[in-house]
Amino acid sequence: MAWFKRKNKEQKSQVVPRHIAFIADGNGRWATEKGLPRFEGHKSGKEAIKKVLDRCYERGIEIVSLFCFSTENFNRPKEEVDYIFNLFRNWEGLAESLIKRDAKFRLMGDLGLIPEDIQEKLKELTEKTADCKTHVLNFGFAYGARHEIVNAVNNLIKDGVKEVTEEIFEKYLYTAGLADPDLIVRASGEQRLSNFMLYQAAYAEFYFPQKYWPDFDAKVVDECIEAYQKRKRRFGKV
Ligand code: IPE
Ligand code: MG
Repeated sequence: MAWFKRKNKEQKSQVVPRHIAFIADGNGRWATEKGLPRFEGHKSGKEAIKKVLDRCYERGIEIVSLFCFSTENFNRPKEEVDYIFNLFRNWEGLAESLIKRDAKFRLMGDLGLIPEDIQEKLKELTEKTADCKTHVLNFGFAYGARHEIVNAVNNLIKDGVKEVTEEIFEKYLYTAGLADPDLIVRASGEQRLSNFMLYQAAYAEFYFPQKYWPDFDAKVVDECIEAYQKRKRRFGKV
């Protein structure tokens, strides 16, 4: 009888967001509060990414966006930027774990700003997961929303487009063809967007767990989904 009850309960809370976007923040503070160097926070932050992705896909979230490195983050000390890039460089098995989840990798960011060997790795990830259909990992790396929008405008000009509609404009964003985020979650308790998905965030719900990114795990994901399920979305209607 118990298993039957549990199943019913799960069916009741099935309305999960189609797209969750996470702003990973607080890696440095997490480390500093533990008396560790900042890079330890980034290292643990990478483990948090794996836990969060696993749980999101398990819960049936179709699209997960992650803000991992911004255009502004290039202004950090070179050692820190290099360390973060190395974490990605040395990420073994990412393609395989995405394929296992049937998740397609997409870069949301400016490939041209990224070191060449990592560009190759990103292209490889995109190609290897191109046929995956169930989920999407929309990876915000060297990403800035204003940069994205200005790029889109410049590309529209290059293509000789004289007048745009929302539909045309959206095709020039990194997120072309992706549904907008239903829920934007920022770690670390800070309540701001920091140049993240400014166009796509138009109707998103927001949630701010009082936790640094390295402490994000399956439980925090469940908490985010539960918070979302309590919201009433009206999209400007009554
Ligand atoms: C987020 O953590 C990770 C990146 C931006 C790469 P931070 O590095 O911003 O951590 P805090 O905000 O300094 O604590
Ligand atoms: Mg920060």
